[in-house]
Amino acid sequence: MIKTVEWTNEGVRMIDQRVLPTEVTYLTLRSYEEVADAIKTMVVRGAPAIGVSAAFGLALGAKQAVGTDATDLEQDFDYMCQVMSETRPTAVNLFWAIERMRDAFRRARAETSSVETIKQRLVEEAQKIYDEDIKANRALGQFGGELLNDGATVLTHCNAGALATAGDYGTALGVIRGARDAGKRIAVIADETRPFLQGTRLTAWELAQDDIPVTIITDNMAGHVMKQGKVDAVVVGADRIAANGDTANKIGTYMVAVLAREHGIPFYVAAPISTIDLTLASGDEIPIEERNAREVTHIREQRFAPEGVAVQNPAFDVTPNKLVAAIITDKGIARAPYTESLRKMVKG
Ligand code: MRU
Repeated sequence: MIKTVEWTNEGVRMIDQRVLPTEVTYLTLRSYEEVADAIKTMVVRGAPAIGVSAAFGLALGAKQAVGTDATDLEQDFDYMCQVMSETRPTAVNLFWAIERMRDAFRRARAETSSVETIKQRLVEEAQKIYDEDIKANRALGQFGGELLNDGATVLTHCNAGALATAGDYGTALGVIRGARDAGKRIAVIADETRPFLQGTRLTAWELAQDDIPVTIITDNMAGHVMKQGKVDAVVVGADRIAANGDTANKIGTYMVAVLAREHGIPFYVAAPISTIDLTLASGDEIPIEERNAREVTHIREQRFAPEGVAVQNPAFDVTPNKLVAAIITDKGIARAPYTESLRKMVKG
């Protein structure tokens, strides 16, 4: 099992996703600031993994806080939550996890003024968020696996696998693993996913580790392979799903969804309930992260774009709900109209 992130006595341990697959290196982060920095710089990435890492980072920060009374600890903890919330803007799992940790703090505080007990409760809550993520992805993998036929080829974009979650199954790749574990033979086409290459570097690596057949294509080949009849379904993850089912995911997902519609291929989104943001009516309200131009102009240290040319680097785009055949969650499969079905899943 790939251990994306975990709590240890020394700190928060994570696999360094910036250097995969050429190097398999684990880092132990020893302060909440180091965890926040790891989220910002993509040591860890993927919506659920970001949420779990933030929760562990907050537990670590609280554990190390030196204040001797609960009021001091509360002030420090508020500040840590603020720092953590400024790491990445699009994946709602980050804000969801911070809110869970804040709630755990409030509950503990209402019961006790013991700083040690509050700290212990925060560690327990972060561990619970981790455990629940693994369970949720197993559940959605089982639901989603039923949508795929034996022998199907699935196209996916970015990495929505074990590496994008607490570990184990993943979301979009959880659906593929769910189908595989139900005895179906599934092959995967992985879009390379420029500019950070999550498809080539991460999806291909983790599927190969798991002996699931995978073929890499560059992003601009997707239309061609669909036209050739080589794709039976598209399954992607999500960073934030608005109340109406509009879905933010890695830049390029929208293009894949439009192509899938043109070729009559079902386009599925797989995500745990923690990715659904009912406070936003539509995808127009989802904040889209703009990342450093260097990710586009360089590969690692090598510059290949001319100096001085303007560059855009939006990290996500929004796929409108009308292109989404179903949203696979850990509570079941939601279909249009999503405003009703998603509300039921979240509240029910
Ligand atoms: O910029 P990243 O690598 O954090 O973007 C990740 C994605 O877009 C994933 O597809 C999404 O978070 C779903 S992960 C289960």
